[in-house]
Amino acid sequence: MNEKISVLISEEKIKKRVDELAAQLSECYSGETVTMLCTLKGAVVFTADLIRKLTLDTRLEFVRISSYDGTESTGKLKMKYPLECSVKGKHIIVTEDILDTGRTLKFLHEQLKAQEPASIKLVTLLDKPDRRIVDISADYVGFTIPDKFIVGYGLDHDQKYRNLPYIGVLEQ
Ligand code: IMP
Ligand code: MG
Repeated sequence: MNEKISVLISEEKIKKRVDELAAQLSECYSGETVTMLCTLKGAVVFTADLIRKLTLDTRLEFVRISSYDGTESTGKLKMKYPLECSVKGKHIIVTEDILDTGRTLKFLHEQLKAQEPASIKLVTLLDKPDRRIVDISADYVGFTIPDKFIVGYGLDHDQKYRNLPYIGVLEQ
């Protein structure tokens, strides 16, 4: 199978936007301690760049969410890699690679809310609003994009392309 990737968002544009998001978060949470909650695996690259630009007392935690049977169709999600820290009373900032149907972030948001954090905000690098099935939106969005399959900068297709420094559209 021949896969071609065309650049949608360049390395330079990503860097500029990540710097802007970090500046906004740093201002919003000025003087606070924040817990960045990175959703594995896709948000790793974004989160690694973002946290290095925050001028805040920053903690880093990870969570992994997946479908029960590995397919998107069931819509039943579980914590495959659960949170190692307590959420209660903390300022939680969830970082996600892409907000698609919204199921993942909705599920995570509900799980977190039940644990009584001081606050929760959702930061997604990419948002595909045309694909939304459940009612959820992010507090901070890097880029709003059309309904195309995206790879690179953490996002994969069959575990490939996560290491690309840019965001591309996979043309098959
Ligand atoms: P949601 O629960 O449908 O919002 O799914 C979000 C997850 O699906 C993301 O965290 C990605 O892992 C994956 N995903 C959705 N769209 C894409 C895409 O275009 N490329 C790669 N992964 C995607
Ligand atoms: Mg993801």
